[in-house]
Amino acid sequence: MKLRYVLPILTATTLFASAAQAYDADWKRGRIYYRSVCTSCHVASPIGQINPSSKTKAEWATYMKADKHAKGKDAVKQYVSKAYRASIKSANKAAEKFADVPDQELLEDITIFLQRGAKDGESPASCS
Ligand code: HEC
Repeated sequence: MKLRYVLPILTATTLFASAAQAYDADWKRGRIYYRSVCTSCHVASPIGQINPSSKTKAEWATYMKADKHAKGKDAVKQYVSKAYRASIKSANKAAEKFADVPDQELLEDITIFLQRGAKDGESPASCS
């Protein structure tokens, strides 16, 4: 086959593959989850509300990447997992609503919401 036929095929294949992988994070879903699941536990704990606007974008990025929650006692991912959602869904509407969302998508939704809501983000946010 001549190169001028092969190249467009390769390009199309690459584009298709990357489009299939990219997930377009939904900050609104992240906000609902953060406010309903993360915050409801924080307000019931001695720590209280943790406003997204209490950290900068860089601080949130580092925090989410490290995945060490509650001073390293557990992981942030744990509270995003399907297993955790299943365990609280009878008492938590957001956990019930998003019961079947893949863990990775929900994690990206929360991550993007925290970026938006950070102190220096597009739209600094509180938790309620
Ligand atoms: C089951 C209860 C619970 C849930 C659910 C929960 N947290 Fe926490 N979180 C805590 C407690 C308790 C602390 C305080 C730990 C301490 O100071 O010893 C904390 C602390 C934090 C902190 C402060 C820094 C740190 O890690 O100590 C951040 C940020 C945080 N949580 C983010 C989140 C996010 C994001 C979610 C949701 C994906 C979440 N938390 C869900 C209980 C929870």
